[in-house]
Amino acid sequence: MEFPFDLTPVLGDRFCVVDQHLRPAGRRGPTHRGDLEQQLRTVIDELGKASAKAQGLPAPVTSAARMEANRHVLYILRDADGRGTPKGAIVGFLKVGYKKLFLLDRNGAHNEAEPLCVLDFYIHESLQRHGYGRELFQHMLQSERVDPWRLAIDRPSEKLLAFLRKHYGLTDAIPQVNNFVIFEGFFSNRPAPPRRPPPKRPEEEIKPYSLSERDFLREEAEPPWPFNLTSGRAGGSPVRGSLRPFLPRRDTPDGQPDGRTDAPQHRRASSLGRVGR
Ligand code: ACO
Repeated sequence: MEFPFDLTPVLGDRFCVVDQHLRPAGRRGPTHRGDLEQQLRTVIDELGKASAKAQGLPAPVTSAARMEANRHVLYILRDADGRGTPKGAIVGFLKVGYKKLFLLDRNGAHNEAEPLCVLDFYIHESLQRHGYGRELFQHMLQSERVDPWRLAIDRPSEKLLAFLRKHYGLTDAIPQVNNFVIFEGFFSNRPAPPRRPPPKRPEEEIKPYSLSERDFLREEAEPPWPFNLTSGRAGGSPVRGSLRPFLPRRDTPDGQPDGRTDAPQHRRASSLGRVGR
């Protein structure tokens, strides 16, 4: 993916790691820092849109705003030498983050865990099956000091399952009741290399059966009962909209549902390639 601005001061060289602070690399070039930040936001938003399009999702799971709101880490790969793309173009990205999850082991017992989760992964269509995905994934594993069998994968696509099978021999998934996929070895006592501990954060409730990063995509806009009754069906029962699991409803002190939604605005699906024309 190409952009109508120089990516080097925004992303640095081959690998760029972005966290919730959205700091551009900013090591070189005359561009003002505020402009670089805006350019980084544009890059993240466009990558998120391209990934959503590639996966057939109705909205991106990765955007600058969602990055700021979560402690996720984005690994971006550039073809800095211009081996297979126009020099400096972005090849793809991988987003990971720690999540508290309830996970079932082989015996069906519930375990509370906070694994590193693969949340979004995309290599540009023209560059898939050239080894870039593996290069990016490998870089992430080394940076996060985690073994592949210790990861939880958020609703993997068929391509990602094939990728994990081929490169890491991950074949035996342990069935879960949520949308995360874990593999044999996840609960093993095999010593893992010392890893960076997850950043400290206030105690948070574990969501029932662990909300996936993608669950907001399933939320259907529907008016509350009784306005959701099918017109012309006097006495009809409320129409069920969302398939969301039984989540505790958050009520405000006056007893009213707080009406929050984390569903982002649906964005125009991006066209791949040059942005900003
Ligand atoms: N069909 C089946 N398997 C595929 C495909 C495909 N079209 N593309 C890649 N793979 C798997 C295969 O195992 C392939 O090996 P093979 O060519 O010998 O069959 C292997 O990946 C290739 O490895 P890389 O070249 O290192 O991987 P790549 O650069 O293609 O990146 C990725 C893999 C990220 C899955 C890429 O194919 C992609 O962006 N796909 C579209 C988006 C997507 O599905 N992302 C995952 C969403 S789920 C999530 O993010 C939690």
